[in-house]
Amino acid sequence: MNGFELHNPTKLVFGAGQVQQLGKLVKPYGTRVLLVYGGGSIKRTGLYDEVLAQLESIGAIVHELPGIEPNPRLTTVKKGIAICHAENIDFILAVGGGSVLDAAKGVAVGAKYDGDVWDFTINKAVIRDALPLGTVLTLAATGSEMNGNAVISNWETKQKRAFGSKYAYPKFSILDPKLTFSVPADQTVNGIVDIMSHVFEQYFSLTPDRPLQERFAESILLTVIENGEKALANGSDYGARANLLLAGTYALNGTIQNGVVTDWASHSIEHEVSAIYDIAHGAGLAIIFPNWMKYVYREGISQFVQFAVRVWNVDPTGKSDDEIALAGIEATRAYFTRIGAPATLADVGVDAEHLDRMAEEATQFGSIGSFKKLGKEDVKAILELSL
Ligand code: NZQ
Ligand code: ZN
Repeated sequence: MNGFELHNPTKLVFGAGQVQQLGKLVKPYGTRVLLVYGGGSIKRTGLYDEVLAQLESIGAIVHELPGIEPNPRLTTVKKGIAICHAENIDFILAVGGGSVLDAAKGVAVGAKYDGDVWDFTINKAVIRDALPLGTVLTLAATGSEMNGNAVISNWETKQKRAFGSKYAYPKFSILDPKLTFSVPADQTVNGIVDIMSHVFEQYFSLTPDRPLQERFAESILLTVIENGEKALANGSDYGARANLLLAGTYALNGTIQNGVVTDWASHSIEHEVSAIYDIAHGAGLAIIFPNWMKYVYREGISQFVQFAVRVWNVDPTGKSDDEIALAGIEATRAYFTRIGAPATLADVGVDAEHLDRMAEEATQFGSIGSFKKLGKEDVKAILELSL
């Protein structure tokens, strides 16, 4: 295990009905609030009215940034920054899924910066301040509710890039499992795959001597595998939704990466696919990740053997390490397929036309990943396996 620092300042407020605490949670930050939300799900479920009632109860002056796209766009983030400047906003409240949260983070850091907020995603500038931000999460997936990361798409240049900063952690995040009852099956599946992929990025590591992090990671995976299927069978199963939601948060709030060299190559590759084709992040990961596994497993086969046995109950008796590792990878693929995730790029309408460009963009700052360092040709090979 390597040395590390851990400081996660986000206050989690978890459980049914916790939106009732919203007014009290926002109040210390001021009264001029920018409410950020997506394409309408919060209006359909009635959450919008509840949120407004809470903000009214503290006398807040509310401005709105609606219409955040899945794979949120730079142009929309810039609209929010302009509102913050024009209306002297004190606090940003994001109500929605990961895209809404990420867009709100972009607005929060961009409002305190004189240049182009895109600079933060291309390492042209360092984030030094942000407006305070809180969230009400409606979808279990990204972990954005308890981390300082955001992913923004520049639709004009067809680039999707991330930034991360200690300034971008939400001050608080309200997680009410009931708010996820209305998530449709396909988005539930995307969320399940995304959560599992976050664990994979941190679990498949060559860092030795980290049994606690490995067992944390395995317990998140087992929880998601079990409760994911329950949530799909019955979208209003409170226990299943609650466990998925908490698993999603713990998968990417720093806990399992303590002292571990993490990978993130599959995420980088997926971001290039959704940058051009605007597919759902979870759908892209369901296609890419098992192929990444097949491409790299020999670099650290014992990790894949452990994964197969502990997570998928593969019986190792009489099998070679290679057979056990491959059985674990196949079990991952089979689970994704069983819950309804796509298996090939063709399934989401992506052909070979832009593979070179994706491989080039993914490696533009050098090789990616750590389990196996991947250059442009490696990335292209994984994309070809995914066709
Ligand atoms: O826009 P609305 O109408 O709200 O509908 C959304 C959207 O269409 C809908 N939805 C959300 N909650 C709902 C609901 N529908 C019914 N009932 C509810 N309760 O779901 C659709 C997808 O929402 P989105 O926010 O795009 O999904 P997700 O949470 O999966 O976020 C994906 C984005 O997060 C990025 C991805 O790249 C992608 O851009 N990521 C962010 C990360 C982070 N900040 O740490 C890490 C991840 O790896 C990921 O890259
Ligand atoms: Zn992800």
